[in-house]
Amino acid sequence: MKVTVFGIGYVGLVQGAILAEVGHDVCCVDVDSAKIEKLKNGVIPIYEPGLETLVKENFDSGRLHFTTSAEEGVGHGEIQFIAVGTPPDEDGSADLKYVLAVAETIATHMNTYKVVVDKSTVPVGTADKVSQKIAQVLKERNVAFPFDVISNPEFLKEGSAVNDCMRPDRIIIGTDSDRAEEAMRELYAPFNRNHEKMIVMDVRSAELTKYAANCMLATKISFMNEMANLAEKLGADIEHVRQGIGSDPRIGYHFIYPGIGYGGSCFPKDVQALIRTADSIKFDATVLKAVEARNYAQKNVLFEKVQKYFGDNLKGKVFAVWGLSFKPNTDDMREAPSRVLMESLWDAGASVQAYDPEAMEETQRIYGSRESLNLVGTKEAALRNADALLILTEWQAFKAPDFEFIKSQLKSPVIFDGRNLYEPHRMKSKGFTYVSIGRAG
Ligand code: UGA
Repeated sequence: MKVTVFGIGYVGLVQGAILAEVGHDVCCVDVDSAKIEKLKNGVIPIYEPGLETLVKENFDSGRLHFTTSAEEGVGHGEIQFIAVGTPPDEDGSADLKYVLAVAETIATHMNTYKVVVDKSTVPVGTADKVSQKIAQVLKERNVAFPFDVISNPEFLKEGSAVNDCMRPDRIIIGTDSDRAEEAMRELYAPFNRNHEKMIVMDVRSAELTKYAANCMLATKISFMNEMANLAEKLGADIEHVRQGIGSDPRIGYHFIYPGIGYGGSCFPKDVQALIRTADSIKFDATVLKAVEARNYAQKNVLFEKVQKYFGDNLKGKVFAVWGLSFKPNTDDMREAPSRVLMESLWDAGASVQAYDPEAMEETQRIYGSRESLNLVGTKEAALRNADALLILTEWQAFKAPDFEFIKSQLKSPVIFDGRNLYEPHRMKSKGFTYVSIGRAG
C-alpha cells in the first residue's frame, strides 16, 4: 500500500520504517529540511536501537522516501498518518497547532479519497477537529473528495521502539467507517498474523485509550513511589513488598519499580493533558492530580537524602553522577529526573561529574559549558575525587561495577542510588554508606 507519514520524530520515523520493512511504499514528510537531508544520507536524528539499519535498508530498497514537499506527500498515500508533535501548552493541555496544520495541508492538496490517521497522542475530540478542518478547506477549494479521520494511537516505548512496533500487543483503531477500517486492516495485516491484535472502536474511545494506558502506568509508578517512601518510614523494605505484590497476576511485576519519578516525553505530558481535559469539562480528576503531585515530589527525594547526609550547604562538594537520560537505552533527557537533581545540586553550591552511555551530547546541548558540570567519557572517570556517587538511570553497565575501584576513587564510600540497583546488606558489608529508595540503608 502507499502510505504517507507527516512528522518524522520518534513515532513517525519508526512507524514509517516498519511499514516500509513489511513491504509498503512509504513517503515521510517533514518541514525540517536539514533533518530530511540527514535521513537521506543515513543519519538518524535520535538514538534508538535497530532504527538506523532499518531506515538505511528500506531507504536503499526504495520503499522509504523522505521529502519536505507536502504536495508530494499528500499525492503519495491513500493513508496519511499525522505523527507531528503535540507539545504541552502553557497550561499543560496538548497544543494541536501542528496537527491541525497537517490537516490543512492534506485538505489543500488532496484530490481523491484519503484515510487520515491521528497517530500523535491527541486529546479526545481531536479527530472531530481534524475532520472539521479538512471539510472547511475542501469547501474553500470548492471541491468534495471523500475522507475519513481515524484514531490509531501509538504504544511504542523509547529504547525498544522498533521491536514494539514490529510486534505490537494491540492495534487500536478508532473509526466508524467500514472503508477506513478495511484500509487499516490491509495496512496492518503483516502485524496481525498470529492472533487478532486489532481492536476497533469509536474514535473518542480510541483517543482516550491512549491516555488511559499511559496514566494507568504512571499511576502504578506513583503508587509504588508512595509505598517506597512509606516503607522507609515504617522500617519495611520496598523491594520485598514489590515482589510480594507483583506475584499477584492482577497486579503483575511491570511498572512497579520505585525510583526517582517517571520522566520522558509521554507520561508527564499525558497525565497533565488529561487533567486539563478533565478540568475543561469541570471534572475533578483527583487520582491523576495525586499521581502528578507524587511524581513532582519524588524527583526531589534523592536530593533530600543528599542534604540529610551532607547538610544543606553543599558548596565545594563534587558529586559523581551515573546516568542522565530519563531511562536506559535512550539519549532522551526530556523531563529526566537527573535534571531536577543536578539543578538542585548546583543551586546548593555543588558541582557534578557526570557520565551517561548515550545522553552526553544531549546534556551538553541543554546545559552548555558550565563550571559546575563536568561531562566525562567513562563511568570510572566520573568517580575521581567525588564526595559521593549518585545513580540516576539504571543502564546495564552500572549493575555490576567494581566496588573496590569505586571506593578507591571516591573521597568517602557513599552511594545514593535512585534506581535500587544493589543489595543494601551487601553494600554495607563492602563498607559503603548506601542510600536507596524505600529500603533501609
Ligand atoms: C511510555 C509508555 O510506556 C508507552 O507505552 C507509550 O507508547 C509512550 O510512553 C508514549 O506515549 O509514546 P516511554 O515514555 O518511552 O513509554 O517510557 P517508559 O518505559 O514507559 O518509562 C517511563 C518512565 O517511567 C521512565 O522515567 C521510567 O524510569 C519510569 N518507570 C518505569 C519507573 O519509574 N518505574 C517503573 O516500574 C517503570
